[in-house]
Amino acid sequence: MKVLTTIEALRAELAPLRKQSIGLVPTMGYLHEGHLALVAAAKQANAIVVMSIFVNPTQFGPNEDFESYPRDLARDCQLAEQAGVTFVFAPNVEEMYPTQGSVVVQAGAMARELCGKSRPTHFDGVVQVVAKLFNIVQPTRAYFGQKDAQQLAIIETMVRDFNFPIEICPVAIVREADGLAKSSRNVYLTEEQRAKAPAIFKELTSIQQGQQTIAEARIAIEQATGGKIDYLTQLSYPDLADPTASTKHLVLAVAVFIGKTRLIDNIIWEVV
Ligand code: PAF
Repeated sequence: MKVLTTIEALRAELAPLRKQSIGLVPTMGYLHEGHLALVAAAKQANAIVVMSIFVNPTQFGPNEDFESYPRDLARDCQLAEQAGVTFVFAPNVEEMYPTQGSVVVQAGAMARELCGKSRPTHFDGVVQVVAKLFNIVQPTRAYFGQKDAQQLAIIETMVRDFNFPIEICPVAIVREADGLAKSSRNVYLTEEQRAKAPAIFKELTSIQQGQQTIAEARIAIEQATGGKIDYLTQLSYPDLADPTASTKHLVLAVAVFIGKTRLIDNIIWEVV
């Protein structure tokens, strides 16, 4: 496995390999099993796997955790190598954003729902960096976790609207044994908070199974976790609109602040 920090070096490595399929796994590092599931899916379908590791400043709001976001490139590279990644692309901020940039990509109306309500600039930053990564790597396929269901829906829309010749491959949420969705942010939780956090998925499941209403689950989650719900809502998927009689897929999505840690989770299912 090679670790490259410049766009030029990565492109030079990829140039002679372009006839082979390239799978891109974009990450912000601090890898966990969720990321490794993306790599496993990428390895299955592609000859070359590129993992980007870049904590993207443009997707963090002014009072968010950009500075404190967990980072450990040496450990990430070890895990990536064990998982079978061909190239890690780990640029610094200057390499990705050498200029302020005056042309912007905007995530649009879908970015104003769910996480967009409390993170109004987040998805503009995500589509900016993902569009750059797509142009830098020019992969055959790119892999995204369903845990970030809104991100996945917006990226699929960007690929469609901007004609990126890339197949977007969603990968199912990877959970801890007690149901908590794996996330780099789980390390922020205290032992007590971590013990309570599985209530989020438990209550989501009970709404989906018709055992309680969203309003009831909202109270149950806040009581069980000691946290504060940012949102708990059900929308059509992937268009993220209010469900109608013709809606085929639903996403039940939640964001909860447990202390200062904001955790998200969701269930996507087919309406029968
Ligand atoms: O999901 C993430 O880790 C990030 O939002 C992504 C897609 C790597 C863009 O920075």
